[in-house]
Amino acid sequence: MKAVRFHEYGGSDVLVIEEVERPAAGPGQVVVRVAGTSFNPVDAAIRAGFMRDPLPLTLPHIPNLDVAGVIEELGPGVAGYAVGDAVIALLPMGIPGPAAEYVAIPAEALAPAPRTVDLAVAAALPATGLTAHQALFGHGGLTAGQRVLINGAGGSVGGFAVQLAAAAGAEVTATASPRSRERVERYGAHRVVDHTATPVTALTERFDLVLNLVRNDPAEVARLVELIDDGGTFVSTTTPGPENPGRGVRVAQVYVLGDATELTGLAELVDAGTLHIEVAERLPLAELPAVHARFERGELPGKTVLEP
Ligand SMILES: NC(=O)c1ccc[n+]([C@@H]2O[C@H](COP(=O)([O-])OP(=O)(O)OC[C@H]3O[C@@H](n4cnc5c(N)ncnc54)[C@H](OP(=O)(O)O)[C@@H]3O)[C@@H](O)[C@H]2O)c1
Repeated sequence: MKAVRFHEYGGSDVLVIEEVERPAAGPGQVVVRVAGTSFNPVDAAIRAGFMRDPLPLTLPHIPNLDVAGVIEELGPGVAGYAVGDAVIALLPMGIPGPAAEYVAIPAEALAPAPRTVDLAVAAALPATGLTAHQALFGHGGLTAGQRVLINGAGGSVGGFAVQLAAAAGAEVTATASPRSRERVERYGAHRVVDHTATPVTALTERFDLVLNLVRNDPAEVARLVELIDDGGTFVSTTTPGPENPGRGVRVAQVYVLGDATELTGLAELVDAGTLHIEVAERLPLAELPAVHARFERGELPGKTVLEP
């Protein structure tokens, strides 16, 4: 089968498309024929070797974590799924990924794919949808009526976070540049602050929860924490918050976890029309090295799905 691999850590040019052996389904695994795999910023960090200490890989490695596809083969001991089922998953880090025609996945990571969107598009849901959900509700404890600031709402995690927070009855303030404003408003943000015109540090109102999705400096993070009411919560997927902010403010750092039950719930929200999956571009899998290069130049227009 065709797969993208890297044989050493490095720049986007270490990614090569090659002919490799098709995986077989081991005990508790399924083999999925990949319809789509989406690019996430962490894929570039893994390829560059920035995560080699916490996450040592066996090289060569097939990258990517997000997949949507159709079950082709069931391994011994797999129950609840059948050949031909359309599924999505966030793969555990470290195993050969879905930047390939086929991928072997632990069955416990699978969720039924949403039925109302093209299967390849559904590959844009797992990592970013789970991150948004875990950040808001698992770490942030968000409830109806609370005021939440989502900093970085124009991105993929932010888009899901705005929709989930608004659907939960929160009052959502979002930062987004003009290119994302209309979409973020449509997703239910009550107020959109253009971060290219007004720095988030200039805000004066107070929030119960601040969700930070931007790779900002500690000074900006400290200012974001000041915007939180006593007893509120700061949650970040990027720059960590201060250890002891005082005033009863809680600080949490997100490390997204694969959770099939939670992912099934998100797919159901897609089918219910509550959660929209935004994909900026769909490209052939062979474009993955170019996608990494464009990401590093800051040129990706949004979520990118690669199709074998
Ligand atoms: N810890 C974890 O488990 C975890 C999991 C997932 C993601 N992450 C991290 O979370 C971050 C967001 O992920 P993502 O997938 O949503 O990334 P993304 O889709 O690349 O989103 C980036 C967006 O942030 C917005 N932005 C850039 N600079 C900004 C600023 N100064 N203020 C406000 N918004 C700004 C831009 O949108 P506009 O120009 O449209 O405003 C940009 O499109 C990434 O750094 C990613 O690595 C961490």
